[in-house]
Amino acid sequence: MYKDLKDKVVVITGGATGLGRAMAVRFGQEQAKVVINYRNNENEALEAKKEVEEAGGQAIIVPGDVTVEGDVINLVQTAVKEFGTLNVMINNAGVENPVPSHELSLDNWNKVIDTNLTGAFLGSREAIKYFVENDIKGNVINMSSVHEMIPWPLFVHYAASKGGMKLMTETLALEYAPKGIRVNNIGPGAMNTPINAEKFADPVQRADVESMIPMGYIGKPEEVASVAAFLASSEASYVTGITLFADGGMTKYPSFQAGRG
Ligand code: BGC
Repeated sequence: MYKDLKDKVVVITGGATGLGRAMAVRFGQEQAKVVINYRNNENEALEAKKEVEEAGGQAIIVPGDVTVEGDVINLVQTAVKEFGTLNVMINNAGVENPVPSHELSLDNWNKVIDTNLTGAFLGSREAIKYFVENDIKGNVINMSSVHEMIPWPLFVHYAASKGGMKLMTETLALEYAPKGIRVNNIGPGAMNTPINAEKFADPVQRADVESMIPMGYIGKPEEVASVAAFLASSEASYVTGITLFADGGMTKYPSFQAGRG
């Protein structure tokens, strides 16, 4: 637990499910005030809110699509109106939709880039604007992926969005460091979340992915949530512009394990 997270106002886009929900609950355990953004599944958001409250935090739910500028502006304004301020912005909402690159439609490309990269930019911009105008040493956490560094056939739009996020985060970190605003990425590997449910329900595909993880298992959402809590806390006060990978070693060239090569 991080004592200074108590009563901090934390906005999480895509906070109703997957890694977003795990982070919401973790910040609930830290007794923070959590703003759960969701796009269309209100029931899921209400379940997440209940879990945050049961964990010891406060929560509100706010609908909104991160690709719509007005929705992101409204999200930050609602957080401030309901909980009085903003301390941590977590740009977590993301989508993936694999297709061979030569068949990838512009629509599909745009949807992934708009959600994963432009959505994170809008969330970062609105949060940082609030921090600057109100002299708050807040922090932004962007949910990246191992695919900000590992190329991923069939997922060119996804990999491009996360690669873009890497330099977006580094640039924002550099630009706002003098104001004490920190901006970091989390880079999860293969996690047990709804986005992967179908893939990991198939034992063959699951074993295949596990063979690419030096630690040998698919990560638990809580293992990303704990990284978010650390980065948001003052224990990480000197950490900015990094990607903290929570990937069981997936980015460390697992094919070279046991001295191969
Ligand atoms: C993707 C997962 C994938 C993992 C490792 C993540 O960014 O969302 O679907 O399993 O990367 O490849």
